[in-house]
Parts: sequence; structure tokens; C-alpha cells
Amino acid sequence: MMFTLGELVQQTSSLAVSAFGFSGRTSRALIATESGGQNFVSLSLNGGRNGLNRSGSGSSLISSSNGIGSKAINRGAPLVVRAAESATPTKPQQKYPGEKKGFVEEMRFVAMKLHTKDQAKEGEKKSDSPPVAKWDPTIQGFLKFLVNNKVIYDCMEEIVEKAAYPAYAHFRNTGLERSAALAKDLDWLKSQGHEIPAPAEEGTSYAELLKNLSETDPPAFICHFYNVYFAHSAGGRMIGRKVCESVLDGKELEFYKWEGDLQALLSAVKEKLNLVAENWTREEKNHCLEQTELSFKYSGKLLRLIIS
Ligand code: HEM
Repeated sequence: MMFTLGELVQQTSSLAVSAFGFSGRTSRALIATESGGQNFVSLSLNGGRNGLNRSGSGSSLISSSNGIGSKAINRGAPLVVRAAESATPTKPQQKYPGEKKGFVEEMRFVAMKLHTKDQAKEGEKKSDSPPVAKWDPTIQGFLKFLVNNKVIYDCMEEIVEKAAYPAYAHFRNTGLERSAALAKDLDWLKSQGHEIPAPAEEGTSYAELLKNLSETDPPAFICHFYNVYFAHSAGGRMIGRKVCESVLDGKELEFYKWEGDLQALLSAVKEKLNLVAENWTREEKNHCLEQTELSFKYSGKLLRLIIS
């Protein structure tokens, strides 16, 4: 269960509170249940992103100087909230869904809930557009979709190449890159006599957001990175197959092909994402998860180009 600070205050209203030192911006709160120290919820009270390292040395994924981690900046004295003996017994603190398997599972859990039921069985969102099965794609719409996706993948791949934060460098040459594949597809489509449209707002505005986040807010950027690459390998691939059948006589585009074993490529990236997130405070993790909705908003706009 995710708690905002307000909810935590409510949750702990029946608890006796004892504070052992509190140094403002850099303090963390440890909430202990009656069962003792096993069920700590760690809540960073500082804006933990403030002290992130920019590019430079030390790019080991698991060290706190990996450029995204923030362990080093949370050294303040703890504020400890203990359960009073008289408190009504409560269920053990719920973990964040997926937490045990690693942070990628947490991101996946949030993403799956943002699907509609007709998109994926774990989906919970109310549908406000027709299901993919009822889409009536056009080649013009699909070309717009491909061109604007290229804007996004070019941008993602430039970001990891430039690595404003050293940890981004670990996401170079993952095998999931789509920029070169899209370039080949657009060349082929052109050679078939199709007019390739110019990028539109759907692509350029998302690319601008990604660039800004990559420089100012790594946990938010990483959420978009995960969703862009993993959504494409899941639902995106399934959608692509259907659309290609409908508007390209079943031609299999490079965009939907990966060199090597896709599952192995995804697993390797998952592992790196988990390691990067290991250095984040709970607040940074929550901040990352909260970006999922924005990621769906922008990617949803790109997908809808197919039926425009
Ligand atoms: C019409 C739109 C969409 C459809 C039909 C769709 C469908 C699916 C399906 C069938 C899965 C696999 C579920 C499973 O593993 O059991 C999936 C996974 C996923 N989708 Fe979507 N999706 C759509 C849009 C999106 C969007 C817009 C995003 C975010 C940008 C997104 C993010 C993800 C993620 C992160 C996963 C998990 C991938 C993994 O576990 O490797 N999806 N989607």
C-alpha cells in the first residue's frame, strides 16, 4: 500500500510518537509496528532527488555513486514512530505490490492496472476508446505512428548515449533499441511509394518531456524508459502485427523484430533497472511509479495516431 504523508499521519493517529532527532530536509521517518523492527516503512521526508549526481565518474550500477542513487544524501537522524502498547493490533504493514521481486515488478504492477480490461486481463481502467480488435487503421495513420515513434526512440537513445547521469550509460546497446529499425522501415515504406509525414506534436512534445526529465528527474525518466521499451515489446508488438496485417498485407516491419532472444534482452534490462532503483529512497521510487500515468497519456496519444 502506498502512503502519502497525510495518510501515514492518519494511520498512526493511535500510535505514540517519539522523535529522536529530526533534521528537517534530510531526515527519514521509520514507522514500526507492534511486531518490532521487521515491518519498517521508510519514508523520506526530504526531496531526495535534490542531491543526485550528475555525470562524472563512478558509474557502477550498485554503488551509491551510480549517478541515480541517493543513499548518500539521506544521512539525517531518524524520526522513529513506535506503536504504543495500547494500540489495537493491526495487520502487518503491506509491502508495495511487486516489491519482493524488485522494482521493475512494482512498475509493471502500476502499468498493468492502467490498462483497460479489453487491453490486458490485469487492467482496471475504464475504457474510453474502442478495443484494438475494433480499430480501423489506415496506412496514413500508421505512418504517422511510426514517424512519431522514431522521434521518441531517437530521443531515448540519444539520452542514454549522452548519459547526463552516469547510470543511463548502462542502458546503451541493450538490444531493445528501435531507432535504427524504424529508420529501415521508413526507408522501405518510402521505396514503396508512401509519403513519409513530418513528425507531429504527439512525438515532439513527448520527446521534449523526456529530454527535460532525463536531465532533471532521473526516477521519472526511468519510468518512461521502462514503459516505452517494455510496452512496445508486449501490447505494442501485438498491435503492430494486427495493423501490419490490415494495412501492409502482413509485411513484418523491423520495428517488431529484435535480434536475439527478446525475453533474454528484457530480463537483462530488468536486472539493470532493479539495480539502479536499489539506490533510491522510497520517495523516489514512489515518484517514479507516479509517472506511469503520464507515460500512458503520451504513449496513448501515439497509439491513437494509428487510427487517425
Ligand atoms: C491499446 C493499448 C494497449 C494494449 C492492447 C496493451 C496490451 C498489453 C498486454 C496484452 C500486455 C501483456 C500482459 C501480460 O504480460 O500478461 C501488456 C503489458 C504491458 N503494457 Fe500494455 N497495452 C497497451 C498500451 C500500453 C501503454 C500505452 C503502455 C505504457 C506506455 C503499456 C505498458 C505496458 C507494460 C509496461 C507492460 C508490461 C510488459 C512486461 O511485463 O514486460 N501498455 N500490455
